[in-house]
Amino acid sequence: MEEERLVSPDAGRDETEESSIRPLRLADYIGQSKVKDNLEVFITAARQRRDPLDHVLLYGPPGLGKTTLANIIAAEMGANLRSTSGPAIERPGDLAAILTNLEPMDVLFIDEIHRLNRSVEEVLYPAMEDFCLDIMIGKGPSARTIRMDVPPFTLVGATTRAGRLSAPLRDRFGVINRLEYYNVDSLVTIVTRAARILNIDIEPEGAREIGRRARGTPRIANRLLKRVRDFAQVVNHNMIDYATAKEAMDRLEVDELGLDAVDRHMLLTIIQKFGGGPVGLDTLGASISEETETIEDVYEPYLLQMGLLQRTARGRMATAEAYQYLRQPLPADKEARTAQGNIFNEEQAEGQEESGSSRLSISQRSLFE
Ligand code: ADE
Repeated sequence: MEEERLVSPDAGRDETEESSIRPLRLADYIGQSKVKDNLEVFITAARQRRDPLDHVLLYGPPGLGKTTLANIIAAEMGANLRSTSGPAIERPGDLAAILTNLEPMDVLFIDEIHRLNRSVEEVLYPAMEDFCLDIMIGKGPSARTIRMDVPPFTLVGATTRAGRLSAPLRDRFGVINRLEYYNVDSLVTIVTRAARILNIDIEPEGAREIGRRARGTPRIANRLLKRVRDFAQVVNHNMIDYATAKEAMDRLEVDELGLDAVDRHMLLTIIQKFGGGPVGLDTLGASISEETETIEDVYEPYLLQMGLLQRTARGRMATAEAYQYLRQPLPADKEARTAQGNIFNEEQAEGQEESGSSRLSISQRSLFE
């Protein structure tokens, strides 16, 4: 799929207004209350001791605010933020250069930290633990290592999946936070706040409709807001009310649960081509012309959360709720099969509230109302 998806949680090429909408302080950050409350304590304590904050790992699906939180952590610590990403740091020397150029107490943000290569990771261990670097000088028998100090700093690492991180790296983070999908109320508050900043007139019912279709993700909510604004400008004197929001998103093919054509295509493929599954990830990827990694990181988490898809040991399955939602005839054995307990659901294993096997009506109630 070459076209950019409206409901992709990934940052788009044109998110120019994004930086003005982003909250700059913890007090303005909406939702994620567990993460926020804990960070507030840790930041206050570190500031009182005049220590750098312990290293923080943020993980969870894309678009939930990992980068925003990294910025906020730096601001609240009164420190500079230096940003990079796992794939951008190719060699150990690249990381050594970044670390030795930090100011004391700086916050170093490494996005997609699971994509650091092993030799770079090894430079990071002593830096995280003892604020020093072991540098190899020379080659062969005369080679020796010297230790160099680096300024005390806080590493904020972000990843879409903590399971991809090596154990030694994960163990070196003092604070590990999982970001959850946002409920509709939080998304409504986020949309209303963004509308105020962008000078967009919006009625509460309009904001609610956008929040409902934003698949638990602020980045998507803000993107939908801007597209709906375009409709409002042309057809409704610049006012986003319920009817304008609904019509705009219907026309954009973002349905009531926030699913777009790609999500529906993936579920319909499982149902119509593979009898509802289980179908292996590689086979599914080939059928819908998507990378398996994209399916795992981008499409699947929300479908799992909504109880439309299950991950089993033998592959992906559409749930009875997916059949129902997409108005597909349910095979006779399906109800019994989905009720079986042989489901391995990674999200659930990580301690998330009930998902995957939950019925849509339940997840909808707990998540989206
Ligand atoms: N914009 C994007 N994410 C946000 C959040 N969590 N709180 C407030 N505004 C946001």
